[in-house]
Amino acid sequence: MKLLTIAGTRPQLVKVAAVSRELRKYFTEVLVNTGQHYDYNMAGIFFDQLQIPKPEYNLGVGSMSHGRQTGNMVIRIEEVIEKEKPDAIVVYGDTNSTLAGALVACKLHIPIMHIEAGLRSYNKKMPEEINRVMTDHVSELLFAPTNLAVENLKVENITKGVHQIGDVMYDAVLYNMDIAEENHSLSDFQLSSKEYILGTIHRAENTDDVERMTAIINAFLSLDYKVFLPLHPRTKNKLNEYSLLAKLECASNIILSEPVSYLEMLLLEKHASAIVTDSGGVQKEAYFAKVPCFTLRDETEWLETVKIGWNQLVNPLNDNLVDLINSFEKKNYEENLYGDGKASEKIVQIIKNYFQE
Ligand code: UD1
Ligand code: UDP
Repeated sequence: MKLLTIAGTRPQLVKVAAVSRELRKYFTEVLVNTGQHYDYNMAGIFFDQLQIPKPEYNLGVGSMSHGRQTGNMVIRIEEVIEKEKPDAIVVYGDTNSTLAGALVACKLHIPIMHIEAGLRSYNKKMPEEINRVMTDHVSELLFAPTNLAVENLKVENITKGVHQIGDVMYDAVLYNMDIAEENHSLSDFQLSSKEYILGTIHRAENTDDVERMTAIINAFLSLDYKVFLPLHPRTKNKLNEYSLLAKLECASNIILSEPVSYLEMLLLEKHASAIVTDSGGVQKEAYFAKVPCFTLRDETEWLETVKIGWNQLVNPLNDNLVDLINSFEKKNYEENLYGDGKASEKIVQIIKNYFQE
């Protein structure tokens, strides 16, 4: 059986690394890299460091408006599917690469297997919400990380083919944490454990809103901690445009960095005293690392971490991030909110059963 995997952004590469390792034990996998992310520190380093198989196809689509980017991917993915004639396609998460793969496959009647299905923010202004809702509605197998994701799908009358298997990002953390500690050290960043806050920002709702970005940056500048900020290229561009980059560059408590590798990121997360982010993946990794997380969003798809008190939603315009961080009290930690670290094995078993039936 031949499976065609579509990926192209940083978080998808982390997930592909975990799942491909299992998938290739039983299936022929053809990997298509859309090239949605293309800087070495946003894509290439993940292939190298996580030993992701060399893609059979590099579409090199790159950055452009949503319509053009998705449309270009659709054209190129259709050509690949027509040539490869896969038995199914595998897509991950909620990016434009996910939607493009799903659109082509459903029109060509190729079964779609969606990893990280059923997540909802119920905010249709987020491009990711559109991508994930549309992908879920055309998928044959839906791999939901949580019970809440299964329930979200039920509300939309999707019950067939839904499997709750946990989160493949937990598989990735378990596999890589020791490797991260063996190969990297905080001293590479001139940091010591628990003396800094780690921040990542890249969501359109923050980066594209000058007031929100200004409020976030002012909060970082007011913290009594060092703040380590690996900047997503989108964020760096916007900070420059808003004339906020120079302010950060000369602040004594801010350490600006290019995006770091996944292994470095795991280490930085583990030793942070708190994490401030708008990333989906980083919210979960904060939970895995047992580090309090402050999420710069009005809603989250990962509500379980909020419910147990380890993740707090922060509106940068209305809430005082500095006070929230300073007053955080550790809550009881609940283990295994995102499965047992064997999500990839379960996915592969379910796909095997699907083809046998
Ligand atoms: C995309 C996903 C988002 C995901 C994020 C992970 C969509 C709609 N969004 O957002 O769900 O959370 O990836 O990081 O698919 N850029 C570079 N170099 C790169 C990549 C991007 O300079 O290698 C810059 C470009 O200016 C580009 C901007 O970042 O226009 C945004 O990139 P894009 O892939 O469109 O969206 P992300 O914000 O990365
Ligand atoms: N990540 C990384 N280096 C960085 C920032 C993030 O390796 O400088 C990793 C992070 O550990 C997580 C993934 O990228 O595994 C999350 O990607 P991102 O925040 O870009 O997207 P999201 O999860 O929000 O879709």
